Amino acid sequence: MKDWLKRWQEVLAPEDSFDGIDLSASNPTLCEFAYLHQIHGMQAYPTLNYTPDPIGPMALRQKIIHTFSDLYKSNLPTDLILTCNTSESYSALFHVFAKPGEALLCPKPGYPLLDDIAKLHYLQTYHYPCVRNATTHNWEIDLAGLAQAQRESGAKIMTLVSPHNPLGFSLQAPQAAQLQTWAQKHLDVIIIDEVFAGYEASPGLINWQDWKIPVVRLNGLSKWAGLPHIKCGWMVLDGCQKNRPQLQQILSFVTDTYLNASPLVWQWVHHHIDDLTLCFKEIQKRVTDNRAMLIPWANQHNWNVLSAPGGWNMVLKMPYHLKDWWFIELEEKHDLRVMPGEFFGLEDPETLVVSLILPEKTLRTGLETLHQFLRHS
Ligand SMILES: Cc1ncc(COP(=O)(O)O)c(C=O)c1O
Repeated sequence: MKDWLKRWQEVLAPEDSFDGIDLSASNPTLCEFAYLHQIHGMQAYPTLNYTPDPIGPMALRQKIIHTFSDLYKSNLPTDLILTCNTSESYSALFHVFAKPGEALLCPKPGYPLLDDIAKLHYLQTYHYPCVRNATTHNWEIDLAGLAQAQRESGAKIMTLVSPHNPLGFSLQAPQAAQLQTWAQKHLDVIIIDEVFAGYEASPGLINWQDWKIPVVRLNGLSKWAGLPHIKCGWMVLDGCQKNRPQLQQILSFVTDTYLNASPLVWQWVHHHIDDLTLCFKEIQKRVTDNRAMLIPWANQHNWNVLSAPGGWNMVLKMPYHLKDWWFIELEEKHDLRVMPGEFFGLEDPETLVVSLILPEKTLRTGLETLHQFLRHS
């Protein structure tokens, strides 16, 4: 039996249900108080009574699987667990699959918050490189570097961001096949962050079902609908089916311990999810238009676009070694905040990362200020 499963044995016992008078009642919404009906606006929600649900209502899980049918072609609503956001999903999975002090494989460059979440779990982060293929010039995972990081650390968990932030590439089927063979021998689980799915030029069509280890796919409303404040995320259990019911039960225990996600949010999302496609379309158009504007602009100024078309960011390589104090001066004297590539773990001191979700006019003004600054520095 896998170590992670052994550790959670005691939470796998079946739960009992009880319908009688409960003298230990602690849920006020089931105690016939009048206040719920008196709070203005509360009546708009069909469910005033709180019935704690650690993984979220089936109706919404169905709706999400249906809305994202391109992404979750062979997944069932029972595979989906609702959370508040991707960070919480990561956290729940780290609880399940890792003990404090153990190692976690994360991409470099990559999304910096991942290191912080790992730190809160007392996990040691080991980075594996994402590199440009010398022949195709496409970004990909450096599989030899990944194997080395795993050997050195003994990590059993790997995180993968696809489409990658900030490099924009998606894991493609040929590399996924190689990764699968390797991961099945060395890892317990792969966690795939797909928050930028839909914003990529070349989605990777990967059949996760065939994988012999669990693959957990993370997503939510933060990026897809541009609504981070709604606090609705989810994870989809994919890959190996073997221990899926146990994994779901353990994750339910973790989410049940906090019960962070709000049933009112779930009701709102259920009601509005069809309209949220409009949010996605607007962001997608903005990002595509800005990218189309920025590429010739960058070429004209001798800036090199390093990232693939995916996600919300563009990585630019400038014809200068960017000095730390330039970023401070830009912010303090020119009211312009620019993110050095280093923030995402890019080692090249000539790189910076530009957001593509800004209104075009603002982006142009910012780029012009940056250009003038660099010319005179
Ligand atoms: C790769 C990646 N995953 C997740 C998130 C945040 O998602 P959430 O708000 O659902 O935690 C971000 C935010 O920038 C991100 O870049």
